[in-house]
Amino acid sequence: MNNNFLNLSDLSKKDIEIIIERSLSLKGSTKKSDMLAGKYIALIFEKSSTRTRVSFEVAMNQLGGKASFLAITDLQLGRGEPLEDTAKVLGSMADGVVLRTQKHDTQETFASFSASSTINGLSDQSHPCQVLTDLFTYYEENGSIEGKKVCWSGDFNNVCFSYAEAAKIFNFQLHVACPKEFQPKIKGLPNVIFTESLDEAIDDSSLVTTDVWVSMGDEKEKDYREQLFKDYQICPSLMDKANDKAIFLHCLPAIRGQEISEDLLEDKRSKVWTQAENRLHAQKGLLVELLN
Ligand code: CP
Ligand code: NVA
Repeated sequence: MNNNFLNLSDLSKKDIEIIIERSLSLKGSTKKSDMLAGKYIALIFEKSSTRTRVSFEVAMNQLGGKASFLAITDLQLGRGEPLEDTAKVLGSMADGVVLRTQKHDTQETFASFSASSTINGLSDQSHPCQVLTDLFTYYEENGSIEGKKVCWSGDFNNVCFSYAEAAKIFNFQLHVACPKEFQPKIKGLPNVIFTESLDEAIDDSSLVTTDVWVSMGDEKEKDYREQLFKDYQICPSLMDKANDKAIFLHCLPAIRGQEISEDLLEDKRSKVWTQAENRLHAQKGLLVELLN
């Protein structure tokens, strides 16, 4: 298995299946184990986080290891020490470093100078840990995602990019419903179909998912985005167009009244709270496989 997890495509289908099985077995067993006794990870985040930060911290604690959240203002990095030097030093002490960065390049640079594992806890390009959890959640609810139709409503953002990678790895069809202004210039992504029609994307889907219209870092386009995406809200009556077994997922945080209706998270097809809890179990599965 690759030492780093910067994108979902760093792992093979087999690797992901192993992590999902590991996550499932850890979810079903006692909380505490010593599988990562003596291991240490550091977390360095340039952006806000609730789920990613806490799931990694709790995961290490439950597996007998230790995690520290290192505020950038407390690190010499915050005073101008080069990223490369920070990566060399932390990589020689920690077993892994989880990074949440503005730019994906920062992750690549850090990983190339660090001797230990670098894990992407979100960048402007991708959010592999989130989609790993989503694949785990889908598997737990409905089995294999292979050959299924998946509907994404919203822009081709970091989470959607990782879904596109998942579509290639697991051979499912990802239908991205998005105004043409936000469809990416790159064409020919395997198994990804862009459409302006949310009805078309959701029709007979097995998994429906979305994300905030304004990701962290996109705040300057807030008004423009809210205007363009106003017809891309998922609500229970729209979920009726998906297939009978369809589930709804959302990485969270969500804005009720924008990308989802007020009532969607509590709809019986919504597995969002399970998905959020699964961040912990999937992180445990990932850490055990990556750090051992
Ligand atoms: N979904 C997700 O990554 O949540 P946080 O931003 O709270 O970590
Ligand atoms: N696309 C969102 C995901 C948050 C977990 C963002 O980048 O802000």
